[in-house]
Amino acid sequence: MHNPIFDSREFRQTLGCFPTGVTIITCLTATGEQVGMTASSFNSVSLDPPLVLWSIDKRALSLQAFTQAKHYAIHVLAGHQQDLSNQFARQGADKFSGVSVTEGIAGVPLLTEYCARFQCQTEHQYEGGDHIILVGRVLDFKATEYNPLLFHRGRYALLEEAALA
Ligand SMILES: Cc1cc2nc3c(=O)[nH]c(=O)nc-3n(C[C@H](O)[C@H](O)[C@H](O)COP(=O)(O)O)c2cc1C
Repeated sequence: MHNPIFDSREFRQTLGCFPTGVTIITCLTATGEQVGMTASSFNSVSLDPPLVLWSIDKRALSLQAFTQAKHYAIHVLAGHQQDLSNQFARQGADKFSGVSVTEGIAGVPLLTEYCARFQCQTEHQYEGGDHIILVGRVLDFKATEYNPLLFHRGRYALLEEAALA
């Protein structure tokens, strides 16, 4: 329902004040095709059991693949992976073109470079307005030495550690 006190552009801009990392999330379709998309809605949920969440736009071409997949992999991107982030954010593009992948749990395509990676099993799915909220149980995780790529106010950013007081 449209709410007249809400300017949706301003709402989106204001949400963008909250800085996030950037992830690429991958899965396989029922027929074994590789699917992936860029998502910044990733967050931690629970330590025990180990749960994470992200949300997917109901208009995404990969909606069906992700809502039907039993497994997916979340790659937290490193600072130098901005081009890859753009490649996986382009609707309809051949997203895996030129990208080297290996096979993870249940054959899910895994990127070989990342800041951190979580292999997940679908645990819950919830209605979230124009998005579906996906909660995954983490089956396997790995961190690297890379610093993360950041996203803030609609732009990419790199980490600058605050000086010690
Ligand atoms: C930095 C960044 C973050 C994004 N975060 C999300 C997200 O959390 N959820 C989402 O559905 N789309 C997100 N998108 C948009 C999708 O990556 C984009 O719509 C993509 O083309 C969807 O793929 P598909 O329609 O081919 O499935 C984001 C895009 C960028 C550049």
